Amino acid sequence: MIFLLLPEYFLTELFSKNDIVSVVSLYVNLKRSGRNLVSLCPFHNEKTASMFVYPESNSFYCFGCGVGGSAITFIEKIENLSYIDAIKFLAQKAGISFPGDSSTISLLKQREIIFSINRESAKFYYDLLYSKEGIKALEYMKKRGILDNTIRYFGIGYSSSYYSISKFLLNKGYEEEDIVKSGLAFYGRKGVLVDRFFNRVMFPIINISGNVIAFGARALGDQKPKYINTSETPIFKKGSNLFSINFAKKSKKDFFILAEGYMDVVAISQIGFDNVVASLGTSITSAQARLISKYIKEVVIAYDSDRAGQNATEKAILILRQAGMFVRVLKISRGKDPDEFIRLCGNQASYQFSELIKKAENDIEYRLQKIGSMFDEAKLEHRLMYLREAIKILCEIDDVMEQEIWAGKLSHEMKIEKETVMSQIKKEHRRKQRIHERGEGLIAKKIALAKDDKINPEKSKFLRAASAEEALISYLIYHPEEVSIISREIDPKDFCTTFNRRVFRSILHILARGIKEVNIDEFSKEFSHEEMSRIVKLFIKDSFKKENFSSARCYIRVIIEEKKRNTIGNDSNSLDVDSIKEYMKMLKCSKK
Ligand code: UTP
Ligand code: MN
Repeated sequence: MIFLLLPEYFLTELFSKNDIVSVVSLYVNLKRSGRNLVSLCPFHNEKTASMFVYPESNSFYCFGCGVGGSAITFIEKIENLSYIDAIKFLAQKAGISFPGDSSTISLLKQREIIFSINRESAKFYYDLLYSKEGIKALEYMKKRGILDNTIRYFGIGYSSSYYSISKFLLNKGYEEEDIVKSGLAFYGRKGVLVDRFFNRVMFPIINISGNVIAFGARALGDQKPKYINTSETPIFKKGSNLFSINFAKKSKKDFFILAEGYMDVVAISQIGFDNVVASLGTSITSAQARLISKYIKEVVIAYDSDRAGQNATEKAILILRQAGMFVRVLKISRGKDPDEFIRLCGNQASYQFSELIKKAENDIEYRLQKIGSMFDEAKLEHRLMYLREAIKILCEIDDVMEQEIWAGKLSHEMKIEKETVMSQIKKEHRRKQRIHERGEGLIAKKIALAKDDKINPEKSKFLRAASAEEALISYLIYHPEEVSIISREIDPKDFCTTFNRRVFRSILHILARGIKEVNIDEFSKEFSHEEMSRIVKLFIKDSFKKENFSSARCYIRVIIEEKKRNTIGNDSNSLDVDSIKEYMKMLKCSKK
């Protein structure tokens, strides 16, 4: 470990000049909580603070996402740096000169070598695409409507056989080990280098300094996996880079378009948008959002129109907002992704896509519409449920003017007084504030929430079980076909809280009637309006759709364990020991 090789005097000075509080407070607002400090965690989305900073041990820890460590770890994460670069960053910030020891120098040298391996390989792949060997790949790209100019612009290439890049790089004089470290090849069974990418279209990923840091590689047909990407290397960290950021950062446009995949970026760029980037597969990370926020204030999300794309959009909205962006969401009206849309529009593509951008709704509008589509406007209760959910969304807006505007729109649309909306927002704010003040940590927040819970008053006593019960109910709502297997493993009697037991029992009854899908309306006979609003919450957690039975089994286990514990007469709060300790610590702190 590099750490050990750095001289003692250097580390002592580094840590004394970069105490955890001063480092963390450069990025977030810290609030005192007794001896420690708390803040919203910058590494995951949250609305109530759960990141603790401990001055005594010079460390931090987030109870929400589990990230924690020293000032170095914090910088590593928040600035997307390698361990050694984070140390350098802190040294530079504190004006301490970095010791030029051999280990760091060799690390830097290795990074240089990998940059150069990638640069030469990109050139090699590009040439190969236009050679005899690349004919099929070139045809494939042409078939997808990609022009030579575009191929040159992105440096798109082709990887041919199992050994071509290895051989090429070895001939150039690169060491085997460096080639392996670059991720372009690995040691095969006989100890010879084998290419990682073959018979694929190659997309070089270029960072803001213009260096090729990785590749994405697409199969020419329907083979699986469709794409293979460079795994982590000393110069490439997944989730910290964006495809095409090297171009977008130079764009004169005042917004970025955020797409999901390589081909979307290429197609969008080809019709005249140099301001497009891709988060590559998954939803955008906060590191990527911060990278974007260095260049631009507004992002138009253009993810796929399928369910996965829509879920990723929801996440991206939160992450981009948190990074201080204005966000709009583009609705693809034809095809499943921007690339398909563009192909379907033919020579009208540029115009049509600009129109989509013009029409792209602000993120709040998008979220309102999404929840709106779940309710039936003709029904009074539905209108109320919609309003309640809408108020929560508006309550999340920090900017008061923006909030006013949306309140105006909502009141107009729902034909109620704007003052009513505003006062509901304020009420919701106060409610959140109260919870926030009552306990700043995650556990305290949960307990406070649970204690406030009039619908399920038992929740505060059986916090863990109640959460598992809710999860199981949401899971069942999204997987009604699994009702028989679930009801074999758990009975409503096993539930710890009465309210959740009632809901669960109702769902079982509904499904026993042979109904394929659980509908919210089914509950309205048995449950009050207040209770209905809780049930709606269980309905809108569509992330459960993606889970499988092993999660359900996990919830079931928790519920049954807790039930047992409580019938045996162990009446201690059902939180685990660590959470209780943390909670006690906080109570002590707040009493001081
Ligand atoms: P998509 O499946 O939407 O692919 O994945 P795409 O971009 O539309 O590609 P085409 O049009 O089928 O060629 C979106 C992104 O997710 C990542 C890639 O970055 C891809 O561009 N991905 C997808 C992978 O990394 N691996 C995969 O197997 C699939
Ligand atoms: Mn596509």
